[in-house]
Amino acid sequence: MTRHLRSLMDFSADDVSRVIDLAADVKRTPGAYATRLAGRSVAMIFAKQSTRTRISFEVGIHQLGGQALSLSTSGGTGMQMGRGETVEDTAKVLSRFVHAVVIRTFGQDQVDGLAAHGSIPIINALTDMFHPCQALADLLTLREKLGTTKGKKLVYVGAANNVSNSLMLAGPRAGMDVIVATPPSLPVNPEVLARAQADAKAAGTIVAFDHDPVRAVKDADAIYADTWVSMGEEEQAKELIAKLDGFRVTRKLMDATGKDALFLHCLPAHRGEEVDAEVMDGRWSVVFDEAENRLHAQKAVLLLLLGGASWS
Ligand code: CP
Ligand code: NVA
Repeated sequence: MTRHLRSLMDFSADDVSRVIDLAADVKRTPGAYATRLAGRSVAMIFAKQSTRTRISFEVGIHQLGGQALSLSTSGGTGMQMGRGETVEDTAKVLSRFVHAVVIRTFGQDQVDGLAAHGSIPIINALTDMFHPCQALADLLTLREKLGTTKGKKLVYVGAANNVSNSLMLAGPRAGMDVIVATPPSLPVNPEVLARAQADAKAAGTIVAFDHDPVRAVKDADAIYADTWVSMGEEEQAKELIAKLDGFRVTRKLMDATGKDALFLHCLPAHRGEEVDAEVMDGRWSVVFDEAENRLHAQKAVLLLLLGGASWS
């Protein structure tokens, strides 16, 4: 059966644990995996900008011995998808040429559509709804820094978005509590919350939201921030920034954890907006290790989905 990473709902707790274990091993001994994707090609379609995701996937595929095709959906070298070729036809055609598709786009329906109509693994490299590759790298980072994710508490502070949605799904899969501190005017997606809370109940963890960041961060092991204005929301930037007043991660908020908490950020960051420079560049921050872990976590995902490593 072809497996995908459309969102973390595609991965069980055991799957996530396997990804993180394998990612750690890939990080430790990259040479052992250098030919695992020999003869394999991966199409990488980017309809939105990217630094970390595109480069880490391209380098990662190369490091596994495979071929990465960096594709866009616009401009003179863009795919026909950008001119209206259907997702269904694109999926069928790509399935004849390549062994997997990595896609960053707007609608989650495009990722789901490629998976439904193709016969190869589809990996979500960010949609408006989810960013599962980021969350897996975050779990690897938390495990490295805290020793384990089990029993830990992560508080996301800021705009409820694709990144916070994926963290809510990651928490129960890693034995971790996740609280999203967001203003009432920018609530968490109710469907994702319901699914994450059901998963949390089964796993014996907590997924919740709070409108008071100071209350939310009490006893947190890690605080997480993301941009207040996601890609595609540029026209609402002023409004979003106004609504998020009071949700900046400051030294005071780090201190309000009552712990020596970590600071994570998926990047790109906006110092002075969602996070103060003294936190972003301070002793709490693990953001560049976190960015590096995108490479290792994604290599693990590719290995597992393309058969270069076994799930058990
Ligand atoms: N964090 C992340 O996905 O970064 P890019 O947008 O640069 O890929
Ligand atoms: N929420 C951000 C994440 C960027 C990596 C966005 O969608 O733009």
